[in-house]
Amino acid sequence: MPNAPKRESSYGLNRTVVLVGLMGAGKSTVGRRLADLLGVRFVDSDNEIEVAADMTIPEIFERFDEQYFRDGERRVIARLLADEPCILATGGGAFLSRENRTIIGDGGVSVWIKADLETLWERVRDKSGRPLLNGDNPKGVLTDLLEARYPLYATAEIVVNSAAGDPHEIVVNAIVEELIKTGHLKAAGGIEELHEH
Ligand code: S3P
Repeated sequence: MPNAPKRESSYGLNRTVVLVGLMGAGKSTVGRRLADLLGVRFVDSDNEIEVAADMTIPEIFERFDEQYFRDGERRVIARLLADEPCILATGGGAFLSRENRTIIGDGGVSVWIKADLETLWERVRDKSGRPLLNGDNPKGVLTDLLEARYPLYATAEIVVNSAAGDPHEIVVNAIVEELIKTGHLKAAGGIEELHEH
């Protein structure tokens, strides 16, 4: 049933869930499923920027520069955090900005989807569309990004692990549990009910 109406959320999500983490962590896939489960909107900041600029991300990096992209990213995040609670998947660089971390901390709940290098690499190696991995040594770049960024991702309010081969549902369920524990989601009828969907 492609046009089925979206289920209203009965779980009382009280803040926008902001998914952060490196490329390949599964932010978009997990985010879409989490939003579906909770009956709220899913937004991908990369997509929003592409629509607003009417260009793909590689085109934005090529025709403008990374800073132009980061400005768009900041505006999208600020706009969405001022809106109704939803699930927001951010690009891997979004949480590096202090300004972004502050507004996310004030108005949302940050969730780091943590994965190890090999898991990330297996997921991104054959995909295009990520300008930062376009050079001669993409795995080396991913390694450097991991080392530089993990200390910042680690400041997220919630951290969940995504292991190679794990179905995305495991990560979705881990996030739901943590959202309930931290008081951002009500366990209406118990967490088991959520897991059945
Ligand atoms: C980036 C990650 C990409 C995208 C852009 C820059 C980064 O998003 O925002 O290419 O700095 O790590 P994903 O993490 O969704 O691949």
